[in-house]
Amino acid sequence: MLDLSPDKILVTGGAGYIGSHTVVALMEAGFDVYVVDNLSNSNIEVLNGIEQITGKRPLFENIDCTDYVAMDKFFTKHEGIKAVIHFAASKAVGESVTVPLKYYRNNVVGLVNLLELMPIHKVQGLVFSSSCTVYGQPDILPVDETAPIKKALSPYGNTKQICENIIFDTVHANNALKSIILRYFNPIGAHPSALIGELPNGVPNNLVPFVVQTAAGVYKKIRIFGDDYNTPDGTCIRDYINVMDLAEAHVSAVKRLIDKDLTMPEVFNLGTGKGLSVMELIKTFEAVTGMRVPYEIVGRREGDIEQVWANPTLAQKVLKWKAKTSVEDTLASAWRWQQHCMEAKNDK
Ligand code: NAD
Ligand code: WQD
Repeated sequence: MLDLSPDKILVTGGAGYIGSHTVVALMEAGFDVYVVDNLSNSNIEVLNGIEQITGKRPLFENIDCTDYVAMDKFFTKHEGIKAVIHFAASKAVGESVTVPLKYYRNNVVGLVNLLELMPIHKVQGLVFSSSCTVYGQPDILPVDETAPIKKALSPYGNTKQICENIIFDTVHANNALKSIILRYFNPIGAHPSALIGELPNGVPNNLVPFVVQTAAGVYKKIRIFGDDYNTPDGTCIRDYINVMDLAEAHVSAVKRLIDKDLTMPEVFNLGTGKGLSVMELIKTFEAVTGMRVPYEIVGRREGDIEQVWANPTLAQKVLKWKAKTSVEDTLASAWRWQQHCMEAKNDK
């Protein structure tokens, strides 16, 4: 009999920033979504936001992906999963330098467990969260998927390179497995409803959460790490992509994984194709929100690359996906989320 039930997708790290937005996009695309997350960098309330947006609460289990037995039990309990999107990882570049083994264990063992368990439980497709960090400072801009992978500048970046290699080797050895590797540039913003966003856990590492919290008065000013780079205004350039646009790319990738017989992993850069400097981002945020963001120019941050932005044409051609949200609308969504978080804090 024809099985017309929705395809089941496991999202590891689905309570996290990009994962939660992808869960919303998957549910709205009609998928039956299962979330596994150990809440090491998120909290269970995110599921409330997902439910408010979609009208349905995804199935959630608090499991550590590095726990083979627990993951095996999960797959046994929930047979019929068609694909996995693997977001679960540690992602703070600076922290990875001070506690590298935490990153190697968490990011590599978690993936190895999945790749061992998927064929056992007849789960064929894996979408892997990678990062443009694997390119280091590209020699040619915009950077496309054929650009050389350079020596990682951090243990975190190295875990992404190692995981990509593990996926290539494992798929080559096991034709029951298919994979799509997505290299994200700089995800920013929040769901338009402001019901989910990037949780402000501790002091932000990334630029946009710092800009938003400085505008909100949490910090007196933001430090701009260097204005002596070889760029038009001297500050670093990045490709800032709307998190919901990024989420939609995962829906396209999962559909491709389910429909196509991919004999080797496919790799896609997920960016807008446009570069924006730190100073341009701050000025755009101020113009969009009417808020001031005091700043101080300080020395360069170790490990920062000067400029990188994507050539996103392969994803446009193959995944039929293109980032469509303007940076203005994206920064406005980040500000709405910050205001939502402040209101929620005041209500407690
Ligand atoms: P995040 O920290 O918000 O989300 C990761 C989620 O995974 C969190 O909810 C955390 O609790 C969970 N998690 C971590 N280790 C786990 C484990 N062992 N078992 C179960 N759950 C675990 O991070 P994010 O920004 O949403 O990033 C998601 C993925 O995208 C990561 O793999 C990250 O490396 C990658 N990525 C992020 C960015 C970015 O700028 N945010 C850029 C490129 C790539
Ligand atoms: C952007 C620009 C900073 C904060 C990192 C990881 C990458 C990925 C995305 C996980 C840089 C400048 C920042 C501040 C500043 N994460 N900046 N003052 O470094 O491009 O990428 O996050 O995969 O792997 O490396 O993002 O937001 O930290 O910095 O001047 O307080 O903003 O120097 O030029 P980055 P970012």
